[in-house]
Amino acid sequence: MRAVRYHGPKTPLRLEDVPAPEPGPGEVLVRVTAAGVCHTELHFLSGLLNLGVAPLTLGHEIVGCIERVGPGVDPKRVGERVILYYYVGCGSCRHCLRGDENLCDALTAEYGFISDGGFAEYVRVPASNAVPLPGHVTDDEAAPIGCGVTTAVHASRLAGIRLGDWVVVYGIGAVGFGLAQVARLQGARVIAVGRTEAKLRKALDLGAEFVVRATEGGAPAGAGAVARQIREITGGHGADVVFELVATRETMAESVQALAKRGRLVFVGYSEDHFQVHPIQLVIGEQIVTASVGNTLDELRLAVDLVATGRVKTVVDRALPLEKFQEGIDALAAGQLVGRAVLKP
Ligand SMILES: NC(=O)c1ccc[n+]([C@@H]2O[C@H](COP(=O)([O-])OP(=O)(O)OC[C@H]3O[C@@H](n4cnc5c(N)ncnc54)[C@H](OP(=O)(O)O)[C@@H]3O)[C@@H](O)[C@H]2O)c1
Ligand SMILES: [Zn+2]
Ligand SMILES: [Zn+2]
Repeated sequence: MRAVRYHGPKTPLRLEDVPAPEPGPGEVLVRVTAAGVCHTELHFLSGLLNLGVAPLTLGHEIVGCIERVGPGVDPKRVGERVILYYYVGCGSCRHCLRGDENLCDALTAEYGFISDGGFAEYVRVPASNAVPLPGHVTDDEAAPIGCGVTTAVHASRLAGIRLGDWVVVYGIGAVGFGLAQVARLQGARVIAVGRTEAKLRKALDLGAEFVVRATEGGAPAGAGAVARQIREITGGHGADVVFELVATRETMAESVQALAKRGRLVFVGYSEDHFQVHPIQLVIGEQIVTASVGNTLDELRLAVDLVATGRVKTVVDRALPLEKFQEGIDALAAGQLVGRAVLKP
């Protein structure tokens, strides 16, 4: 089968022929129909995220159709349209026992991270990782659910959003579109921060009440300018929650300055830069710094339901045949995508 293979940091991805996987006991073989390209792919390529596994098929937003089942799996599942949960926990560590497979101490698999993922014609997963998709949700619109929407669901839970909270989505892109909508559903007033006009417009379409442009006339906004605008919008209160999706030195400084007393800064994204803050700043405002990684299986089911019922919309900029993967990667790196690029193996 054809697969887009990662060969380590600073090495271009390559389309290659590799053996198709066989479903083992309790597993299903899924023919991939759509796989979203996440910003995390860029962190693999730069080496910022290096899990030490190569060669590897990337792609963790995976939608497809069950083509075959292994021993012990109900053969009636053949033909089912599914979206995949990308973690397989050990099942016995304290995190797995609580359903927090995203924190498992000894993962069995993590598709697109340490195990072969969705930028390929086929992927093999445990049957319980294949979550049914309702017929009216198309493959392309479903793909960004797998990380974009699930990450939003998980991060917003960790943020403890309350009715009327001011929530800032700092770095409005694919995950940000999910966060803006999920926060709004939880009764928050949402402020989206970004640099590209089309993404900010889309954020307003999706339920953000205010947008803040992080650039003025193409040049970076002056230090403190974003935080100042957030303070103005919130009548001096500041943000009860800031979701950091960029996390450069500059954006982290704005995020901290924008935070209200008892505000929660939630890291979802990361860059090469370190987070530096004097503890007194946090002490005075009793502020919390936390972070969010991945999601639980239950949160994937919830994310599917949110999209299936029209409460959350995914945003797909373009669908590309698998062989055009580089166009998707390049457009993402250049900031040209409004929403996800979806690869079609
Ligand atoms: N923790 C997790 O579980 C998890 C899950 C998924 C993704 N992530 C991480 O979360 C981050 C976002 O992922 P994504 O897929 O949503 O990426 P994305 O689609 O590229 O969105 C990020 C957006 O941030 C904006 N941005 C960049 N620099 C900015 C700046 N200085 N000021 C304001 N906005 C800026 C960009 O838009 P402009 O064109 O406006 O600059 C971009 O669209 C990545 O670091 C990714 O690796 C983490
Ligand atoms: Zn992702
Ligand atoms: Zn575990």
